[in-house]
Amino acid sequence: MKYGLFSDIHSNIEAMTAVAQAMKSEGAQEYLCLGDLVGYYANPNEVIELIASLDCWKTVMGNHDSALLGRTSLTKFNQPAAEAIRWTQTHLKPQNRAFLEGLRLREEIGEIQLVHSSPFQSEEWHYLTGQEDVERNFRYFQGFICFFGHVHKPFIAEQKMDGTVRILEEQEYALQKDCRYLVNVGSVGQPRDGNPKTCYVMYDSGAKKIAIRRLDYDYGTTAKKTLEAGLSDYLAQRLKTGK
Ligand SMILES: [Fe+2]
Ligand SMILES: [Fe+2]
Repeated sequence: MKYGLFSDIHSNIEAMTAVAQAMKSEGAQEYLCLGDLVGYYANPNEVIELIASLDCWKTVMGNHDSALLGRTSLTKFNQPAAEAIRWTQTHLKPQNRAFLEGLRLREEIGEIQLVHSSPFQSEEWHYLTGQEDVERNFRYFQGFICFFGHVHKPFIAEQKMDGTVRILEEQEYALQKDCRYLVNVGSVGQPRDGNPKTCYVMYDSGAKKIAIRRLDYDYGTTAKKTLEAGLSDYLAQRLKTGK
């Protein structure tokens, strides 16, 4: 099966449109979405409707989706992020809110686990980044591979049979059958690894191959719409630097 995986779209329709087209042309058979559909930018309805049209096999809930529904406190968000959530609450159509209400924190498809933030205490929205955190989180999921988002920086981490863990440099990688993996699929709508290109992941579960893809998109338009909506200039500016 060829999966197209993506996360942290944050109401950026220009990036989501580019990613949806790219996954289709790469031959994705199923789509998996790792959460944070809304927040930050100005097109929450268009993003949810596009994702709904992909008919994703599974979509998990992110912290921004949860905050929009009042299930995570806005005190945990910085000011521009909290303002964007309040703006989204007043602009989201009821049917798109209902779409978010139906999402769960974790999903599982056979050997594949999906979670927005981390397998350990998923509801606490931890940022899973450093070596120690990655090592610990391998203990909190069953199965071969766990995909997640939230950090907005893509990477592949591998655990060998002897328990040793390393974070790989590779963007494309052939998975070893006797290892386990934690894969961050990066961010569609607001990359933070110094590269403004939008990001998604292709996973071929038969060939056991994984690829982190980066793609140009029209972030100038996203930034312009952000300002026109009265949202944060800081959020608009960071699209250009990917930081
Ligand atoms: Fe996010
Ligand atoms: Fe998040």
